[in-house]
Amino acid sequence: MQREYDIAVIPGDGTGPEVVAEGLKVLEAVSDKCNFKLALHYFNLGAEHYKNTGETLSDGVLDSMRGCHAIYLGAIGDPEVPPGILEKGVLLRLRFELDLYINLRPVKLYPGVETPIKDKGPEEIDFVVVRENTEGLYAGAGGIMRRGTPHEVAVQESISTRMGVERCIRYAFEACRHRNRAKKLTLCGKTNVLTYTFDLWERTFNEVAEDFPDIKTDYVHVDALCMWMVKNPEWFDVIVTENMFGDIITDLGAMIQGGIGVAAGGNINPEGVSMFEPIGGSAPKYTGQNVINPIGAILAAKLMLETLGEPEGAQIIEKAVMKVLREDLKGTGAGKMGYSTSEVGDLIVKFIETS
Ligand code: IPM
Ligand code: MN
Repeated sequence: MQREYDIAVIPGDGTGPEVVAEGLKVLEAVSDKCNFKLALHYFNLGAEHYKNTGETLSDGVLDSMRGCHAIYLGAIGDPEVPPGILEKGVLLRLRFELDLYINLRPVKLYPGVETPIKDKGPEEIDFVVVRENTEGLYAGAGGIMRRGTPHEVAVQESISTRMGVERCIRYAFEACRHRNRAKKLTLCGKTNVLTYTFDLWERTFNEVAEDFPDIKTDYVHVDALCMWMVKNPEWFDVIVTENMFGDIITDLGAMIQGGIGVAAGGNINPEGVSMFEPIGGSAPKYTGQNVINPIGAILAAKLMLETLGEPEGAQIIEKAVMKVLREDLKGTGAGKMGYSTSEVGDLIVKFIETS
C-alpha cells in the first residue's frame, strides 16, 4: 500500500504563504519520486483570521491538527497586531497543546553559501541545537501587580521540571548518537548565576549521560557559547539547552549558517504530531514581492520527511538544495538570490525531477 500522510498546512502571515508554496512544490516532486502521497489540509490561521474573527486558534482546529501526521507552518506575526497575541495564541499554543517539547534547529553551512565568519566553511559549521520547547520562561508563569503605578511589580518566572528537562536531554543524547559525527553533546546553561534551574539541568544531564557512554559530554555557559559559536563553531556537534537560551543562540546560528532565509526548525513531539517551519519570521517588508528566500521552508520540509520516516525523500531535498545553493544562487538574502522566490523553488524541483 502506498504511504500517505495527512499534512496540516498553515501558510500564516507575511511571506509565510510564499515560502510554503515553494516547500509544497518541492514536496510534491519528492512524493512522486519516492512514491508516497501527501493529503494537504489548509488552515487559515494568523493575523487575517484574528482580525476577522478575534480568534487565534480554536479547539476545533487544534483537534483536526491532532489527527494529522505533521504540521507545516510558514510564519505567524503581523505588525498590525500587538506583539504576543498571535505568537502566544497560535505558535506557543501549538507548542504547548501538542507538547512539542523539542525544538530542533540544525546549523549547517552548505557549500557555496557565504558565512559572516571569516576563515570558516562547511567543514567547521555543522551542528544541531536541541532547544527545550515547552518550559522555562516560555511557560508564562508570573504576572504584573499595580500596573502603571510607581509601585508596579513584574514577575516572570522560569519553570523547569525534572520530566521536561530529562526528556529533552534524552532526546539530545539520542540525536547525537544518531548523527554519528563527533558524538559530543554540549550542555549550554548558566550554572554560575541561574543556580536553581541549571542545578536541575546539570544533574539530569550527568545522570542521563551514564546511559550514553559512547557520547562525550561538555558544558558551556550561554554567554561563552555565543562567543565560541562565532570563534570556534567546529567545537560543536549537538548542543542542548533550555527554551530562552535556545531561542537566542539559534538566531545566532542562523546567521553563521548563511542567514535567516536558509534556517529551518522542527517543533517535535517524538510520540505525536510535530510541526516544521522556516525560522525566518513573516518578514512583512518583503511580503508579496516574490523576493524572500524559500530555502528555510524547503529545508523545514526536509526535516518533516525525516520525522515522518521518509529519509530518502529528505536526502533528495537536501541534495537539490545543495546543488542550487552551490551553483545557482548569487546570495541567500531577500532580493539577493539572482532569482525570485518561485524561481528558486522551480530550480530545486527541476533538479529533483531530472536527477
Ligand atoms: C522562534 C520565535 C518564537 C520564539 C516567537 C515568535 C514566539 O522567535 O520560534 O524562535 O520565541 O520561540
Ligand atoms: Mn526565535
